[in-house]
Amino acid sequence: NRTVALIVAAGSGSRMGGGIPKQYRKVAGVPVIARAVDALASHPAIDAVHVVIGAGQEAQLSEALGERVATSSSGGATRRESVRAGLEAIGDAGRVLIHDAARPFLPPAVIDRLLAALEDKAGAIPTLSMVDTLVRADGGVLGDNVPREGLARVQTPQAFRFDTILAAHRDWSGDAEPTDDAQVARAAGHTVLAVPGDIMLEKLTHEADFAAAEARLGAIMT
Ligand code: CTP
Ligand code: MG
Repeated sequence: NRTVALIVAAGSGSRMGGGIPKQYRKVAGVPVIARAVDALASHPAIDAVHVVIGAGQEAQLSEALGERVATSSSGGATRRESVRAGLEAIGDAGRVLIHDAARPFLPPAVIDRLLAALEDKAGAIPTLSMVDTLVRADGGVLGDNVPREGLARVQTPQAFRFDTILAAHRDWSGDAEPTDDAQVARAAGHTVLAVPGDIMLEKLTHEADFAAAEARLGAIMT
């Protein structure tokens, strides 16, 4: 059955600021969203790419994508709602990789690891271990340290059996807004595996992340 990539790109990038949403800005000459589409579309296991966009952003998307092929539909007020809307728009598939547009550098090996892990589980996500000391710092005053052993930083794409994650989104009734789809899958009782992520997958969140991404890209190409 088909393996589809779902890229969520309906956010406003409020932590980034600036005139245009971060997914439409360019990194080293190529729009962020175009890089995400390329990374997924070029993987041999992925059959189609669907992009969830903000209201009225059709022209912005098509200008950013140029000749690239992707279907699109409208998102919602939260990331969760955008993912749900995208899954409903796709309708049917065997597997889905749900990815943040704001993570434009996606090594193919991560996709390989995710799809391998998905063979016998409902979901798999890329994670990185914690390297810094962790401490509570509410209000700028240090509280207790948090042991970093066993903790992980969560990235995307996150891979799921399509029917499983669609049903989990339809059933979601949590209070706190989930920031990724593994939370939604786990809330529905599914086991989700962690596979090694990649430093290149860091999300573009703040303004300085653009310069850091261009620097990393330059270091790789020289
Ligand atoms: N996203 C989305 N729909 C929303 C909110 C977020 O599709 N209503 C997408 C973003 O476009 C992004 C991904 O979810 O690709 C991860 O979200 P984040 O990095 O938080 O992006 P923004 O929500 O746009 O940024 P901010 O939280 O700073 O406003
Ligand atoms: Mg956000």
